[in-house]
Amino acid sequence: MGAGTRPSAIAAAALLAVAACCAALLVAAAPPQSHQPQQHKHVRISGNAGDVLEDDPVGKLKVFIYEMPRKYNHYLLEKDNRCLYHMFAAEIFMHQFLLASAVRTMNPEEADWFYTPVYVTCDLTQQGFPLPFRAPRIMRSAIQYIAATWPYWNRTEGADHFFLAPHDFGACFHYQEERAIERGILPLLRRATLVQTFGQRNHVCMQEGSITIPPYANPQKMQAHLISPGTPRSIFAYFRGLFYDMGNDPEGGYYARGARASVWENFKDNPLFDMSSEHPSTYYEDMQRAIFCLCPLGWAPWSPRLVEAVVFGCIPVIIADDIVLPFADAIPWEQISVFVAEADVPRLDSILASVAPEDVLRKQRLLASPAMKQAVLFHQPARPGDAFDQVLNGLARKLPHREGAFLKPGQKVLDWNAGLDSDLKPW
Ligand SMILES: *[C@@H]1O[C@H](CO)[C@@H](O)[C@H](O)[C@H]1NC(C)=O
Repeated sequence: MGAGTRPSAIAAAALLAVAACCAALLVAAAPPQSHQPQQHKHVRISGNAGDVLEDDPVGKLKVFIYEMPRKYNHYLLEKDNRCLYHMFAAEIFMHQFLLASAVRTMNPEEADWFYTPVYVTCDLTQQGFPLPFRAPRIMRSAIQYIAATWPYWNRTEGADHFFLAPHDFGACFHYQEERAIERGILPLLRRATLVQTFGQRNHVCMQEGSITIPPYANPQKMQAHLISPGTPRSIFAYFRGLFYDMGNDPEGGYYARGARASVWENFKDNPLFDMSSEHPSTYYEDMQRAIFCLCPLGWAPWSPRLVEAVVFGCIPVIIADDIVLPFADAIPWEQISVFVAEADVPRLDSILASVAPEDVLRKQRLLASPAMKQAVLFHQPARPGDAFDQVLNGLARKLPHREGAFLKPGQKVLDWNAGLDSDLKPW
């Protein structure tokens, strides 16, 4: 962006200019009035792979759903249904969606993909967070069950199977990066396609061919907080959330790799930054009154803020080096967001101030497109083009399966005894 080379006096002047510019900008940025709802349709959206956001997956793939003993899914949910409401809930809603989906086949012989409904993020601590310790054992047990009950797992050792793994660090099944890396992806999932929220390039917990999904955020709840689309965006940069995690990272620097602490220390007194660690009841409304919404990494690179920012038309400011964004082959993240390197956080003010007003407007117009919002939401019931459809589109684009997916009779590639000893205990 070149903003980094500016002397700070010029940066300060630029900030003043932005503060002045934005009143005008905000009026101009108001989406079209409601008597012209059609207008949105004509905003052109192109992802890296072309205009694929509105693709219809039906007819492009067939999915077979394994019928599992209830202990792998329903009993976990009955034991603690808080997992229906947390940001990992895509694991459950994907199952409900597929059961009723037109891509479902009852005939495994004609299936392109096999899906195992297992709710590992439903095994919760008292505080309501997914327990990391038993998740790999539950998953391993589920795979043993399908491999023993049907012939399809052994045919490919999972290469035509997909699994939801919306844990913080995906199929590494841990919330702390060091532990997640130590553990690595559950060896039995090595050949499978992982549908996960975690995405970071060149990371042990990111397997090639994975599909990165948005975290679950309740669409009805967000809908209930919508304010008039003409409301001016009078907040320049907005953030609510932790800057430090004293409980888990008392010395600082490990949580968010220090990026959130740096945001706070550098800009807590800057009037253009509306930031606090307290979530107000007007959180969703505030995002609709903001131009930029900061989306820094936390323990993992992803957070629900990404989804909320898109839904509320607030330009996401993505501070998470090497993040792999949800449905990046369909959602043009480069066009709707601003990316800031973690090391550049001290210059965040001048970087945001130097985004040209016409770029701000263009990003806001793209964000206003219903197709964009649809793609990051898991609607109940599902809607065309929503996140469920984007997952199916991702799976359809991986067909036909690569050479080598189907093993020779008797051929074995995976080692059932690989992994941590604690993971090998029965569940
Ligand atoms: C699949 O292979 C495993 C051994 O790796 C075997 O125990 C199991 O019975 C096989 N499944 C079927 C359905 O033949």
